[in-house]
Amino acid sequence: MSSCLADRRTQLIVQFLLVTISRETEQALKRKEVETMKYHKLIENAVKPNGFWGKLMIRSMNKGHSALTDWALTHFPIQSGNVVLDVGCGGGKTVNKLCDMVGCGKVYGIDYSELCVRRAEKLNQKNILCNKAIIRRASVSALPFENEKFDAVTAVETYYFWPDKLGDLREIARTLKRGGRLLLVFEMLADPVDPKKWEEVENRLHIEAVTREGMEEMLERAGYLNIRTYVRSGTTWMCAIAEKE
Ligand SMILES: C[S@@+](CC[C@H](N)C(=O)[O-])C[C@H]1O[C@@H](n2cnc3c(N)ncnc32)[C@H](O)[C@@H]1O
Repeated sequence: MSSCLADRRTQLIVQFLLVTISRETEQALKRKEVETMKYHKLIENAVKPNGFWGKLMIRSMNKGHSALTDWALTHFPIQSGNVVLDVGCGGGKTVNKLCDMVGCGKVYGIDYSELCVRRAEKLNQKNILCNKAIIRRASVSALPFENEKFDAVTAVETYYFWPDKLGDLREIARTLKRGGRLLLVFEMLADPVDPKKWEEVENRLHIEAVTREGMEEMLERAGYLNIRTYVRSGTTWMCAIAEKE
């Protein structure tokens, strides 16, 4: 009789443990699903930031691209008095950095996301007030500027999304002065040793990581001269610099 009772008690304990474990596993799976969903929402907003996730993405880009931009700018000296354009300016951090470099010059930023324009304007409020910075909503494919306006154009982590890369590089060249310079900055350099490195982001955002040779060829086809690329050792950071004839 007592052994029968003990068996029943053991059975109940095992049952209780199984229910608890499966509930915890279910919760853990749900947590993982939620984390994955959040990550997807965030990276999808790199293309054209909008709404709640767009705001988070802009904050994360301003912070996350800062060191990459600083490194690239060490290869791209800006002179005092220069008139510079930042294409795909996002939250406006690069515009802010450039304003500190141009002295009595001027910095323009364009982005096709309305949210980015608002955020970039907020970040650069002081420079906008003293007419040193101007942010406009526009596409890289149709820049709202006259020919040969800029001494330099920068574009940080945005090239992958451009709809007509060759045409867009030519459109930038149209706005550059003769001898004006272009700086393209990338974090997604393709890795021949690990071709799947960027696969998830590439598939989700329908973009492609860049290669040194591919970028040099595109710039040459777009008519640029003195093309140079730099890769920061131990990272997947690359920047490409070129001049308009
Ligand atoms: C990954 S974010 C980088 C933003 C910023 N340059 C930075 O480094 O933080 C890409 C930016 O490019 C902008 N963009 C993408 N395609 C564009 C296009 N065709 N014309 C203008 N801006 C574009 C997006 O709206 C977004 O702000």
